[in-house]
Amino acid sequence: MQAVLDYLKQNQKRALAEFCEYLRFPSISAQSQHDDDLTACAQWLAAHCKHIGLDAKIHSTAGHPIVTATTPRVKSKTKRPHYMVYGHYDVQPPEPFNLWTSPPFEPRIVGRNIFARGSTDNKGQNFAHLKAVEAYLKTGTPLPCDLTFVIEGEEEVGSASLSTFLKKHRRALDCEAVVISDTGMPSPKHPALGYSLRGIIAFEITLHGPARDLHSGGFGGAVDNPAMALSQLLAQLRDKNGRITIPGFYDGVVPLSAYERKQYARLPGTDAELQKMIGVKKLFGERGFSSSEQRSARPTFEINGLTSGYQGEGSKTIIPSWARAKITCRLVPNQKPEHVRNAVLAHLKKICPPTVRLEIEAGHGAEAYLVSPTGKAAQSSLRALKQAFGHEPILMREGGSIPIVNQFKKILGADSLLLGLGLPDDNAHSPNEKFSLDCFEKGQLMSAHLWQELAKD
Ligand code: BES
Ligand code: ZN
Repeated sequence: MQAVLDYLKQNQKRALAEFCEYLRFPSISAQSQHDDDLTACAQWLAAHCKHIGLDAKIHSTAGHPIVTATTPRVKSKTKRPHYMVYGHYDVQPPEPFNLWTSPPFEPRIVGRNIFARGSTDNKGQNFAHLKAVEAYLKTGTPLPCDLTFVIEGEEEVGSASLSTFLKKHRRALDCEAVVISDTGMPSPKHPALGYSLRGIIAFEITLHGPARDLHSGGFGGAVDNPAMALSQLLAQLRDKNGRITIPGFYDGVVPLSAYERKQYARLPGTDAELQKMIGVKKLFGERGFSSSEQRSARPTFEINGLTSGYQGEGSKTIIPSWARAKITCRLVPNQKPEHVRNAVLAHLKKICPPTVRLEIEAGHGAEAYLVSPTGKAAQSSLRALKQAFGHEPILMREGGSIPIVNQFKKILGADSLLLGLGLPDDNAHSPNEKFSLDCFEKGQLMSAHLWQELAKD
């Protein structure tokens, strides 16, 4: 084991240079103009996996390729434990470009941070595991378990191809648990094991008005304005206490137990700090819940994009022909995505005024995830976190979604260990995304320890 730790220490410079190469691919899964960049990124990744001693393959899918990489299988009389390491090489769109202090796909190191789209979400977090395994392979240190990396290119758009892949390769992917570093921790002094993720439903609403944009002087006053109608429609969906007013929206939501609320109260950070970090005048959330609870244990209805009318320079006096909103709702354990989707759609149809035509386009969806953090693998993970970060880890629910995690459970029967390496100020999905080099290095140590700790069970 010492050889592994020494190797990691001695090879950080090279690891960082390779990480930069990985970050240069604009692997933006939401934008079809980047399809070739995703393929090139998958090819680079597979080649890199081979280079460090893994047996790597690229699997084409209906969408973006999936990369798998396995450790050399060791002959043994007893069945060796097998773990999957899941990650994704696709990234969110980098727009708006003008807010980046350096181009999103030209990694820049400033102090102990590396700035680039995908640095924390998820290339860096996942790469830390690859570097740890490289250290075992290159030093000839026996790994106490077999590993399979599964790194996909569609996580940020709902992981549509991966379920089919899991079903097809069910036997080869049969494992004790899935290790995922694609979440966060409150601070480097509070390494965290996640035990829940929120689910999600995505859709777009368009309100169609006049057949074409109209002169707002010639027609304004006698015709409904789709942008105004959409604003009024959306504004009705949330009350002043932050509750979503859609009938059936909260069906199935289980209240937090007193024990969980106690755990929440132990999380570091104040509302004042949160407010400052995100740059808002004042926080807003569902009344009766702390901000941490609101961010991870409560469902939400969010407008992600709102488009209508003229967006160019100067003014243009028109009544726009249409208005559109891109929406996602975060779901919590026990909410059914289809039930919530139907409740939302039925309500929108009911309250839509007769002056506009409502069009709804359904997008991806995934259930929330919740696992008891008391199992043996969870305990091993906590020990590995403590060894790497030198602080007592905490247990936390995560507010984001990793759509495939429920499929790991349903198709493979495997729970996921959420060992997040991201920090709250990493700017995931925002301009100037970064990853802390301390988290990168400690993440490698955590992974190196993890395989030993898991093997003890
Ligand atoms: N890394 C995130 C998930 C995450 C972030 C979990 C922070 C917990 C805390 C992941 O890459 C992600 O962004 N997922 C998407 C999924 C969606 C597009 C289906 C998300 O949560 O928005
Ligand atoms: Zn993401």
